[in-house]
Amino acid sequence: MVRIIAYDNAQQAHTVEASEGVSLMEALSASSVDFDGSCGGSLACASCHVWVGQDWIDRLPPASEAEEDMLDTAFNVKATSRLSCQIIIGPALEGLTVHLPGN
Ligand code: FES
Repeated sequence: MVRIIAYDNAQQAHTVEASEGVSLMEALSASSVDFDGSCGGSLACASCHVWVGQDWIDRLPPASEAEEDMLDTAFNVKATSRLSCQIIIGPALEGLTVHLPGN
């Protein structure tokens, strides 16, 4: 299991235990945080938008053009914005921090 720290809209930290090979969206949706990936990870929504911790953004594989296009439709987009359904959990993400944007 890989430990992810997710900060909710009240800046409360939640530790999420994620299985390797699932997407970050799936891990967050299965956790106690209020989170949803409406399209199931098919890049047809932006509901899985997260802000990745500043220390982590350069450690992730870059977003695809399709992810960038869908991010353009999200609210509160920042330089650290990613679609969590496109981030696959692996050991290199141990301790990843993400923030859940308010809408
Ligand atoms: S769950 Fe819809 S784009 Fe990620």
